[in-house]
Amino acid sequence: MTSTLYFFLLFFPLLSLQSQAANTTASTKYTLPVIKDTAKHQYFTTFEIGTPPLRVFLIVDLANQWSWMSCSLYGYNSSTSHQSSCHTTLCATYGGPHRPWCIDTDMCGVYAYTPWTWTEYAVGVYEDTLLLSSIDHPQSPSKLAKVPLPHFPIACADTQPLKGISRYTKGYNGAVYFGGGPYYFPPSNLDMSKFLVYTPLITNPNSTAPSSVFERGDPSYEYFFKVRSIKINKFPVHFNTSLLSIDKNGNGGTKISTLSPYTTLQSDIFRATVEDFVEQAAKMGITRVASVPPFGACFSTRGIASTETGLSMPIIDLIMEGKSDLLHGKSARWRIYGANSMVRIGRNVTCLAVVDGGVAPRTAVVVGGYQLENNVVEFDLEGYKIGVSSSLLRWNTTCSQFKGY
Ligand SMILES: *[C@@H]1O[C@H](CO)[C@@H](O)[C@H](O)[C@H]1NC(C)=O
Ligand SMILES: *[C@@H]1O[C@H](CO)[C@@H](O)[C@H](O)[C@H]1NC(C)=O
Ligand SMILES: *[C@@H]1O[C@H](CO)[C@@H](O)[C@H](O)[C@H]1NC(C)=O
Ligand SMILES: *[C@@H]1O[C@H](CO)[C@@H](O)[C@H](O)[C@H]1NC(C)=O
Repeated sequence: MTSTLYFFLLFFPLLSLQSQAANTTASTKYTLPVIKDTAKHQYFTTFEIGTPPLRVFLIVDLANQWSWMSCSLYGYNSSTSHQSSCHTTLCATYGGPHRPWCIDTDMCGVYAYTPWTWTEYAVGVYEDTLLLSSIDHPQSPSKLAKVPLPHFPIACADTQPLKGISRYTKGYNGAVYFGGGPYYFPPSNLDMSKFLVYTPLITNPNSTAPSSVFERGDPSYEYFFKVRSIKINKFPVHFNTSLLSIDKNGNGGTKISTLSPYTTLQSDIFRATVEDFVEQAAKMGITRVASVPPFGACFSTRGIASTETGLSMPIIDLIMEGKSDLLHGKSARWRIYGANSMVRIGRNVTCLAVVDGGVAPRTAVVVGGYQLENNVVEFDLEGYKIGVSSSLLRWNTTCSQFKGY
């Protein structure tokens, strides 16, 4: 199995970057490197901010409404930074409909939180210039130019919330792209945006953030989509599918989280999925071995073929809302091959990279980081949809564009 990690999370414009990127330079495409801390299973990125440019490292977290960092830790003292005033419509936008508020009489205040502690921190918003890499020549992504992105809102927290966050490690595993396709990856130089299967994004009307951060009636900022069923080698997994709907309190449904290392399934779904996977694996002549927590099923790697989509294991399909032209009008699906379904544990053992989320989790299906790797996932907030690589093709690239970054 290949040890190189390809992790392409594509944002079409996303989070705070989205409005800035869209307003200032409509045609510029930006990219950020993604680095995986394999010990803590966290993904982070790095860029320079302010004057003189200060290199900072941030966790990639789709759930936070805010980009925030510990300004004191970095000694952030930039001559181009501006405090955002709370008496502006911009601040009202930042604060969300319910929470435009003031810190120290005039500073725009927002909440940031760490999912590990679920504690919120009131922080002030600054605007400053980011230095980002832009793809000038989409057909040759190795040519990156550094370009300024002005008026980027970033919140300053102290070091307290940083507990549990991984330290910077070396190596680049993938990239985040802003501004939309085309996406060319060497060596095929096919435009990957033509091979994406789309499904609508869904708004969860009830926030999934810590209760101290939102007010009743606030929607969730996380990325939900509708999974209708799960299939393994084309056979549907049987469980109570009402769990796949978001109920009136915002429980249930499916979201993407870069902070969950592996896909997390509600207990009943987990049990049924593991059972069916084991059954299909047995039919393929694959030998089950003792499970290694937190995984529910492990197998001997002996005799399993290695393919360009990873180990040849039963194929998992998340059948999603919507039809796909790419699949000849069939239901959109997120196809998970061995490369994304199996995690190697020791030399001869591979485990189904899915964990039990408990009997009554807030969200029934949380698609985690491991299932996003080796993949192209596009968040299109204008079209209010997400695109997932149809896995009809694979590519080989070394993320060489970030060498020496
Ligand atoms: C911030 O930078 C300015 C120069 O740009 C300097 O005069 C000032 O002392 C610095 N403040 C701190 C706290 O380092
Ligand atoms: C969930 O959202 C609906 C619609 O906004 C609201 O009426 C309801 O009170 C919310 N429930 C909770 C538990 O927040
Ligand atoms: C499925 O779950 C829902 C909500 O948990 C429940 O109301 C319903 O009775 C269940 N259906 C079956 C067939 O068990
Ligand atoms: C792994 O498999 C090889 C050959 O199949 C065997 O020699 C080795 O002892 C096995 N290692 C473990 C840790 O089971």
